[in-house]
Amino acid sequence: MEVLRNKKTLQDFIERQKEMGKKIGFAPTMGALHNGHLSLYEAARTENDLVISSIFVNPTQFNNAEDLKKYPRDVDRDLSMLEKSGLVDAVYIPEVQDIYPEKAESLHYDFDGLENEMEGKSRPGHFDGVGTVVEELFRQVKPDNAYFGEKDFQQLAIIRKMTEKKQLHINIVGVDIYRAENGLALSSRNQRLTESRRDEAKIIYETLVKVNDWFRVVSVSEIKNRVKDIFDDQKGMNLEYFMIADEKTLKETDFFYKDKLYRAFIVVVVDGVRLIDNMHLD
Ligand code: PAF
Repeated sequence: MEVLRNKKTLQDFIERQKEMGKKIGFAPTMGALHNGHLSLYEAARTENDLVISSIFVNPTQFNNAEDLKKYPRDVDRDLSMLEKSGLVDAVYIPEVQDIYPEKAESLHYDFDGLENEMEGKSRPGHFDGVGTVVEELFRQVKPDNAYFGEKDFQQLAIIRKMTEKKQLHINIVGVDIYRAENGLALSSRNQRLTESRRDEAKIIYETLVKVNDWFRVVSVSEIKNRVKDIFDDQKGMNLEYFMIADEKTLKETDFFYKDKLYRAFIVVVVDGVRLIDNMHLD
């Protein structure tokens, strides 16, 4: 596995691969790798000649300095995990100036309103930061296909929109949420929870499964009441939001229309750690 530690080495590497006509699959990450990331590489392996990942904790997508500081970082552990997996051909680990040559600040994007829903309300500026870093990584890595987990479903929608609007000609692939045995969606943030808290947090997934059972059986407002009741009974867990949204526009719905697709979205703060999850309803 090649470890590319700056923009110049990446560019030379990409140029060689392009000359050989290699099809590139790319999965950007912020490190603290887990099996959810490996599932992205597995998907990429089946469809490309070459799989590239990146590790870069992007400062502009954190609207809270404390969250950025606390974000888990262990590049040596990440590299040995990647090496062992045998799934990745090259990993790009840029310095801040490789991504932001002048100042680490976001560009401003219009994602046709997707940015104003859910996470956009709770984390102002977050998606401008994500758009900025992903666009820059795309321009440097020049992938044919790029892979993102559906856990961050709104991020996936926004990256699809940005790619289309900027005509980047990259195929964006959404990969199913990778869950622990108890159903908890894998996230780098889970490392900050104790084992017993991680076990209790399975209630987030269990709630989404219940919501799916209630879908089109009871009203949206009744579902919301029931979800609130579940979390009112949980000590140390705070339901930040729960909503059911149109899967395309991500706009919250109060009613289930016949021909639309819906997805449930939830954010729960467990011992100060913000956990997000979602589920397609059918
Ligand atoms: O999902 C992530 O890990 C990050 O938001 C991403 C896409 C790597 C951009 O920094």
